[in-house]
Amino acid sequence: MKIAILSRNRRLYSTRRLVEAAEQRGHEVHVLDFLKCYMDITPSHPSIWYKGTKLEGYDAVIPRIGASVTHYGLAVIRQFEMMGVYCLTESVALGRSRDKLRAMQLFSRKGLGMPSTSFAYQVHNTKDLIKLVGGAPLVVKLCEGTQGRGVVLAETAKAAESVIEAFRELRAEFLVQEFIKEAGGSDIRALVIGSKVVAAMQRTAMDGEFRSNLHRGGSAQLIKLTPAERRTAVKAAQTMGLNVAGVDLLRSSRGPLLMEVNSSPGLEGIEGATQKDVAGFIIQYVEENAKPNKTRTRGTG
Ligand SMILES: Nc1ncnc2c1ncn2[C@@H]1O[C@H](COP(=O)(O)OP(=O)(O)O)[C@@H](O)[C@H]1O
Ligand SMILES: [Mg+2]
Repeated sequence: MKIAILSRNRRLYSTRRLVEAAEQRGHEVHVLDFLKCYMDITPSHPSIWYKGTKLEGYDAVIPRIGASVTHYGLAVIRQFEMMGVYCLTESVALGRSRDKLRAMQLFSRKGLGMPSTSFAYQVHNTKDLIKLVGGAPLVVKLCEGTQGRGVVLAETAKAAESVIEAFRELRAEFLVQEFIKEAGGSDIRALVIGSKVVAAMQRTAMDGEFRSNLHRGGSAQLIKLTPAERRTAVKAAQTMGLNVAGVDLLRSSRGPLLMEVNSSPGLEGIEGATQKDVAGFIIQYVEENAKPNKTRTRGTG
């Protein structure tokens, strides 16, 4: 197959591993910096260009879109979709997962476990917002944050009000969430491909920190998930419509609670902790699900 990986940097661990796994399995693979792609948006012949060349003949696209460039990345994926090319991560699914508020609403609609979460637009709702999630301590988080940035633990109602006011002042969209204390600074990352969890790790925050992100100095260990955790992780990925997803869960006294679903999950931490060839599994999934380009009819996006 001819595979394109949409990535800003071919030297990133995850990109390198996907290239390696695809080549090992005999595919032709190109890394395309999607910010350098430009598009011809016409009714009958939508096309994508890259450094003066029209991109043609791809059987599959593997998007690895960073959070700061979601908007343009989505447009490039949509264009490939219009051209009838199989995209491992579909534009609609990526868009859902990048907005924590939208994701939480979808999880709640499916009845999936999640921390109590509230959201409001107007300043005079602050006290009610805090009450809705059961009071302090609570977590305030930016709707579009990543790597633990913009996730704040407020120990008291007063601190919560100050943080909420500060976020509002900055015109940032945020969620207010029940703090899951029993998680004890740990969370679970489950790597879902299709309808299976192929690898899972527990991440533990460093001392004095409640955010377990590896980018915040958290450490990772192999972990065995309970059947309920597996089910929740797979259901969450499917709710987003993601074929590949990094699902973050908290272990609580009332079972697994969803925090977020990442559509371009990093592979370094999970492959390191589990010694599994996750990149290989991803390419295998693409092989099984992408039809050769020749047989494709033009999609509608
Ligand atoms: N409601 C919560 N209760 C306890 N810990 C939380 C809660 N929300 C987030 N955390 C901790 O903070 C980390 C980052 O939060 P998350 O929502 O995943 O944001 P990001 O997208 O920045 O990773 C989580 O991995 C978890 O360790
Ligand atoms: Mg996270």
